[in-house]
Amino acid sequence: MNKVTTTTASLLLVAVLVAGGCERPPVDSEQLGYRGTGMVQITNPRLAATPVSIPEPIPAVSSAGPKAGDIYQNVQVLGDLSVAEFTRLMTAITEWVSPEQGCNYCHNPANLASDDIYTKVVSRRMLQMTQHVNASYQSHVGATGVTCYTCHRGENVPAMIWTEQPAPRAAAQFAGWRDGQNLAGQPGVAYASLPYDPFTRYLNDTETVRADVRVNATTALPAGTSDKDIKDAEATYALMMHMSDGLGVNCTYCHNSRAFASWEESTPQRVTAWHGLGMVADMNDVYLAPLASTLPENRRGPLGDAPKAYCATCHQGAAKPLNGAQMLVDYPSLSGR
Ligand code: HEC
Ligand code: HEC
Ligand code: HEC
Ligand code: HEC
Repeated sequence: MNKVTTTTASLLLVAVLVAGGCERPPVDSEQLGYRGTGMVQITNPRLAATPVSIPEPIPAVSSAGPKAGDIYQNVQVLGDLSVAEFTRLMTAITEWVSPEQGCNYCHNPANLASDDIYTKVVSRRMLQMTQHVNASYQSHVGATGVTCYTCHRGENVPAMIWTEQPAPRAAAQFAGWRDGQNLAGQPGVAYASLPYDPFTRYLNDTETVRADVRVNATTALPAGTSDKDIKDAEATYALMMHMSDGLGVNCTYCHNSRAFASWEESTPQRVTAWHGLGMVADMNDVYLAPLASTLPENRRGPLGDAPKAYCATCHQGAAKPLNGAQMLVDYPSLSGR
């Protein structure tokens, strides 16, 4: 081989690698819709194999004997548990939320009944939120449900949360007004040059969520029936980027891309996702946002709001959080039933 063909061959090789999206084969593809509809889920087995560690369940204890509500002074949510069950749950949440700091992350050791430490007040609300999600959103979480570990995974604050963001100053006025988009380094929308905060708009308020996400025209010509413009469509796409990235799936996990709006051609997972949108808005609106006044300044966002949940908070890159691990079954007091 002479020098020219060697160079050509190496350039070709580079071109193939670059065009291949930099992912070394093999990749798995699974057909989700009818043949020819392009509804294929592509996964990389090397990345999908990333294991998630799940704490061993603590052995069950007796529900007999006096109730926590009768023995302790300041138990407002878990009063129906036996003292043994109550202690078991305290041990579990310590492992899920503050394994390094232990009980004293939430408690004043001199007086366990005291609500002095803000983390205890936050945790009580977290207990209620967890019970509410498990009891009222079986349309989304099924019997799998969630525990503190689904979001926290041994961390004080879950790894994936969002807060409202200040409008960044345009770099030296060259970029002009950013209008809430094109900010590099926004992981929430998978680094897309789309609006970086579709969450305040769609995942904050139980009243306005869901129907507002829809932007496709329902008539051939603008007939005055839609008040949606390109800006609205961009916000929808930003939210969709978050949903795909948060679950580690393609758009075709939920949609047939020839008609994104069509429910008839969508997968059942899109219906689950639709219930999820309402669930997240409810969690943020009713439980998480109001905690702003309880949290210390360093836990709040740059605009002073409390950190909130989105799809990635529970899913963390998996189509089913913790790859579908069944943790709730061992902690029925969190089921809210
Ligand atoms: C992540 C926060 C958190 C951690 C860690 C935690 N607790 Fe609690 N604890 C709470 C909350 C919240 C309550 C109140 C529950 C309620 O209102 O139903 C509580 C209440 C209690 C009470 C009842 C006190 C009273 O008289 O009202 C006891 C006892 C207790 N916890 C023991 C423990 C022990 C022991 C540990 C460590 C193994 C522990 N807790 C770890 C959040 C926590
Ligand atoms: C849906 C996800 C989710 C679940 C489930 C969840 N949390 Fe949280 N938790 C959050 C978010 C988001 C924050 C940050 C916002 C805040 O501090 O209010 C947080 C913050 C906290 C904090 C404050 C930590 C700090 O250092 O400021 C504590 C304590 C806590 N959670 C305890 C719990 C306990 C106990 C449970 C289970 C009963 C639980 N959480 C379940 C999402 C969740
Ligand atoms: C996990 C499921 C899921 C994934 C993944 C997903 N979507 Fe969606 N998409 C939905 C749901 C649910 C709605 C409808 C929300 C509603 O009706 O309120 C929707 C709505 C839309 C709409 C608006 C349709 C209309 O009626 O106007 C568009 C456009 C869209 N998605 C595009 C995308 C794109 C592009 C991707 C990939 C980047 C994507 N979606 C990924 C679930 C998903
Ligand atoms: C409070 C935690 C939590 C949040 C937040 C959450 N999910 Fe889920 N989601 C779950 C659980 C748990 C399951 C598994 C249910 C099961 O096993 O049946 C699930 C399942 C799903 C599924 C079905 C997956 C499959 O393969 O069947 C889709 C799709 C989905 N979620 C989309 C979303 C979207 C989109 C969002 C954000 C709008 C979201 N989820 C937010 C907990 C959550």
